Amino acid sequence: MMVVMVVLVVVVLGLGFGCWLFHSGLLRLKGLPPGTMGWPFFGETSEFLRDGPSFMKNQRARYGSLFKTHILGCPTVVCMDSELNRLILMSEGKGLVPGYPQSMLNILGKSNIAAVHGSLHKTMRTVMLGLINPSEIRDKLLLKIDQSMRSLLTNWNDKVIDIQEKTKEMWLLSILNLIAASETGPVYGELKFEIYKLIQGTLSLPINFPGTNYSRGMQARKKIISILNKIINERRTSQRFRDDMLDSLLRNDDNTKGKLSDEQIIDLLITLIYSGFETVSATSMMAVKFLSDHPKVLEEIRNEHLEIRKRKLSEDAMDWNDYKSMKLTRAVIFETSRIANVVNGVLRKTTNDMELNGFTIPKGWKIYVYTRETNYDPFLYCEPLSFNPWRWLDGTFEFNQNFFGFGGGARLCPGKELGIATITAFLHYFVTRFRWEEVGRNEIMKFPRVEAPNGVHIKVWSY
Ligand code: HEM
Repeated sequence: MMVVMVVLVVVVLGLGFGCWLFHSGLLRLKGLPPGTMGWPFFGETSEFLRDGPSFMKNQRARYGSLFKTHILGCPTVVCMDSELNRLILMSEGKGLVPGYPQSMLNILGKSNIAAVHGSLHKTMRTVMLGLINPSEIRDKLLLKIDQSMRSLLTNWNDKVIDIQEKTKEMWLLSILNLIAASETGPVYGELKFEIYKLIQGTLSLPINFPGTNYSRGMQARKKIISILNKIINERRTSQRFRDDMLDSLLRNDDNTKGKLSDEQIIDLLITLIYSGFETVSATSMMAVKFLSDHPKVLEEIRNEHLEIRKRKLSEDAMDWNDYKSMKLTRAVIFETSRIANVVNGVLRKTTNDMELNGFTIPKGWKIYVYTRETNYDPFLYCEPLSFNPWRWLDGTFEFNQNFFGFGGGARLCPGKELGIATITAFLHYFVTRFRWEEVGRNEIMKFPRVEAPNGVHIKVWSY
């Protein structure tokens, strides 16, 4: 009898424990997601870099939308499921932080937005949004952006230009004018040289050996810090009001804007310059390319801008109402970033073991929120491979939950509107001042970054 009682108690306790295990989710965890890890140390980096999107699609076909791999020196889980990607982007603070490479974090500084989380992230983000939010663009920035575009887009008539190089210059000229025009103007050449080295360094292995891109990037960072420190010190002693971004950051009569140390201000300025560099220039270059390849779209977009010019004197700047009325231009920018995939995805890192879709992702692993394929999903975009800006014309489409071109959640791009306004102003003067033709064959790589190894050369004439 006693034995039966003991057996019964064990069975009941066992069943209870089993139920608890099941409901707590522990029984359902399946360990790591399926996938392959490749060679020791190198993992599958060379397959990833060589085959890019097709490597990802093959792995998905074999293992499903969530698979493990080892790329760029880290064990990584790739997520290609749109719903799950949204969930990951919304999970900031729940065991996930940005997972960008160490070289990038070191070169951009320890206070750069991608390196911080929690309350410092909130502060840095609030300060940044204070500088580049839509009402700042409307009231202050647009006029300055307009001036930068006018000065850049002169003397191009009858010349062959590399539009890749020009769009990079366009971003630098424009953002430096917004930050501190009076002081960056005279040292523009030197700053540009150092910024190019800094950007190269962020995409390298963190090997601090003389001659490596990383070491040159770190040197460039030091140089840029010393230029910016000098400007900040001169401003403090001169006390002259200048109404630009640097002034807003240095003024401490405002609750949020005065909170940062000089070191944080400098990291924020470097982040501002860096964040738009590749995104804005590659989108502008690709927009020019798509317009060249789609004469009907070019004709319509040009009409949109000429209509606005008709109502203005030639010296009148593009204003906020003009900008807001350029619906086709906005649609061209969205379609360009969708189809050219300026952003393939974003990286996160786990700070604890975490559960994702029934799998366990160990602490310290990267999660690659890979959004590229969503952009080509035929259920979301009819004829996904054709360049069709009209699909974005209904302004609400840009907020569709499956477009991650500007990220999502707590790290949704704070520079989205500034980026779009800058590209719009560039296109405004480009299509109303010039017609152009491509020269030779311009090869453009789409992965891992959108870039033309030998530039994109076009012959330009006045329109
Ligand atoms: C076409 C232009 C742009 C595109 C496609 C773009 C795209 C993105 C994406 C996808 C993210 C999310 C990154 C992540 O979740 O880890 C992001 C974040 C960010 N972007 Fe942009 N961006 C653009 C322009 C700009 C500009 C002009 C600025 C500022 C001058 C900017 C500043 C930032 C910053 C600071 C973050 C980090 C936000 C945070 O971590 O809270 N972006 N951007």
